[in-house]
Amino acid sequence: MIDTDEKEQIDMKYDFDKYIERRGTDSCKWNDFEKVFPGYDVSGAIPMWVADMDFPAPKEVVDAVTARAAEGIYGYPVLYSKMVGDATKSWLSRRHGWEIESKWVVAASGIVPAVTYAVQAFTEPGDKILIQPPVYYPFKDKCIKYNNRIAVENQLIVVEDGSRRRRYEIDFEDFEKKVSDPELKMFILCSPHNPVARVWTYEELARMVELCEKYDVLIFSDEIHSDLIMRGWKHVPTGAISEKNLIAAYAPSKTFNLAGIRTSALVIPDDELRKRYVHQMEIDEVTGLNVFAPIALKAAYDHGEDYLEQLIDYLDGNIKFAKEYLEANIPGAYVYTTEGTYFLWIDFNGTGLTPEEIYKTVLEKGKVAGDLGNWFGISGDGFIRLNPACPRSIVEEAVKRIASAFEK
Ligand SMILES: Cc1ncc(COP(=O)(O)O)c(C=O)c1O
Repeated sequence: MIDTDEKEQIDMKYDFDKYIERRGTDSCKWNDFEKVFPGYDVSGAIPMWVADMDFPAPKEVVDAVTARAAEGIYGYPVLYSKMVGDATKSWLSRRHGWEIESKWVVAASGIVPAVTYAVQAFTEPGDKILIQPPVYYPFKDKCIKYNNRIAVENQLIVVEDGSRRRRYEIDFEDFEKKVSDPELKMFILCSPHNPVARVWTYEELARMVELCEKYDVLIFSDEIHSDLIMRGWKHVPTGAISEKNLIAAYAPSKTFNLAGIRTSALVIPDDELRKRYVHQMEIDEVTGLNVFAPIALKAAYDHGEDYLEQLIDYLDGNIKFAKEYLEANIPGAYVYTTEGTYFLWIDFNGTGLTPEEIYKTVLEKGKVAGDLGNWFGISGDGFIRLNPACPRSIVEEAVKRIASAFEK
């Protein structure tokens, strides 16, 4: 028999079409974002840049955080939250089929800081760290550069099939060349990949893991987008291939729009590696989360699956609509298939405009503020990354604006 609470959960239908005003809420996406685009006049633009959704979190998360807030006492929480370990273990087993132990989980406020702690704990200044551009820019610009390490790039390559569909693949020959360098100590893997929106296959992951093991390279596997997998694709956790020499990073922040709560979970199966990692966090004085973080993570992982299923269908609809509209209305525009993440990775180089003209067309004429492709590396020049995790009406307005900007 289904009790009333359970029934309510099953029947909850989320209204992702609803527009919620975020201006004036101190949201980084909507307020003062003009500063992020120096040299471009983005006044009045629709913000479709940072990976932050315009949807409320699942009801169970809102209820849990509200209940905790109502307690009124916000003293120090425990440093090592068992709640985070248990909820993450259960989520990874249910959603991704990876069986872990709760004690392997280390809570951290965010994944960018978590990459930084790993860089500090396991490499020395001057060491080389591998990334795969075009890729999420803070890896290089913050985690590697600020710590005086050297970024080594294994550029993804674009492969075109018989029907002229393009997709990014890994250049394994170059990958092996780079990981075999004794000065290269760590590989930051982005899985699924931001911004190219690939969901790496088992074979691709297994080959990268095998080469890293062969040359003794630590893998930091950033799987922050691993729950956002479009219909027809499947995420393979790197740890399901090998648990050796691995830090795997998960978070409910993208999945359930909790980035501002600052909550994430690192899975470090090896005891020695985990000890060194936690020690680095102690040195940096960053152990322990804020009081709401474990509660929000637990509520999301314990009760969020129904929300997530509805969200994926909605995002899939937004992505397909935008892709079809842009390709049909802008000669030369090419939108890569979004396998995972919610990003649209759009190549405007075929329009015949220069990258600078492309950015001005989208940002200033179109008044849509998407991430500039060259932020992700020079191979992204002439591209725009759009974030369509917002009501369909906004996506419709944005793509119409972009198409008419290219027409003028
Ligand atoms: C691949 C990737 N890693 C990390 C982050 C940011 O993580 P956090 O906010 O937990 O530092 C993002 C945000 O867009 C991302 O796309």
